[in-house]
Amino acid sequence: MITSNYFQGIFALASLPLLVHGDLVKVADFGPNPTKLEMNIYVPTKLAAKPSIILALHPCGGTGPGYYKQTKYPQLADTGGFIVIYPSANHDNNCWDVASTKTLTHNGGGDSNGLATMINYTVSTYKADPKKVFVTGTSSGGMMTNVMCAVYPDLIAAGSGYSGVAAGCLAGSPGSSPQSATPTCADGKVNKTPAQWTSVVKAMYPEYNGTYPRVQVWHGTADNFVNYPNLAEEIKEWTGVFGISFVKNVTGEPQSGYTHMVFGDGEQFTAYSAAGVGHTVPVHESVDLKWFGI
Ligand SMILES: *[C@@H]1O[C@H](CO)[C@@H](O)[C@H](O)[C@H]1NC(C)=O
Ligand SMILES: *[C@@H]1O[C@H](CO)[C@@H](O)[C@H](O)[C@H]1NC(C)=O
Ligand SMILES: *[C@@H]1O[C@H](CO)[C@@H](O)[C@H](O)[C@H]1NC(C)=O
Repeated sequence: MITSNYFQGIFALASLPLLVHGDLVKVADFGPNPTKLEMNIYVPTKLAAKPSIILALHPCGGTGPGYYKQTKYPQLADTGGFIVIYPSANHDNNCWDVASTKTLTHNGGGDSNGLATMINYTVSTYKADPKKVFVTGTSSGGMMTNVMCAVYPDLIAAGSGYSGVAAGCLAGSPGSSPQSATPTCADGKVNKTPAQWTSVVKAMYPEYNGTYPRVQVWHGTADNFVNYPNLAEEIKEWTGVFGISFVKNVTGEPQSGYTHMVFGDGEQFTAYSAAGVGHTVPVHESVDLKWFGI
């Protein structure tokens, strides 16, 4: 009898993930989740009316709870009243699938689809503003940021991707991790014209005829893992989609050593090149929030 109660007590403690992750809560059932992603959500105590949502995507080998601890969005959410989703990819060395046809197709049943379900769940559960849904991420998460902006332009208002690659760069690769992917993309050797990248993006959701999310990207010139030329491909991709051209470089923005590359009116797409910075560019939360407009 005593033994039985003892074990029940252990089980009760073990089934309280809330205590393990502090304010980050794991959501068990959020809807169709074809690739079995894990959903974690940070909802601040003081939630704004019609709150904004940020989907924050970890790098390869990472987890949602790990990225939650590495990024300052939760503290900023406490004052800003927005929600942060920190999902985990538990496959392919914990990398987001940015290669399969499923993930590169709107409602195609891949990772992008499961993330879209999390967004919808959060919008309806917390009466969030569907027009203020943002995505960001580092490395693999930066790649997935580009993919989400291309595959779900109807759900995402803006994105900020760190040290990633253009959406579609890994198309056809057998995997998306350093261990499973064709190396051509990370090596910076998948080169396309703006028109070709635009076709790649449009093919992910051919029926879509609305505006695309505002995209901001970051890359370090000393990145020898996801090579620096990938920034040029991201630039060609999004300036192609928006039909805008290079305007000017602003040095020292947002900090010394960085260059802010401005395109068009500066509102649809923007890039930050970080001199001497490797893999990955540190997350600049306040610049992201400004870009998102929250
Ligand atoms: C998300 O919600 C929108 C708007 O209600 C809907 O059109 C779409 O099918 C949903 N997508 C997913 C993946 O649940
Ligand atoms: C977009 O497509 C929808 C459905 O095909 C159509 O009703 C709408 O007029 C189109 N909008 C534009 C701006 O072309
Ligand atoms: C700035 O401007 C030129 C275009 O004149 C571009 O080729 C160059 O690589 C830009 N970026 C940086 C980080 O200097």
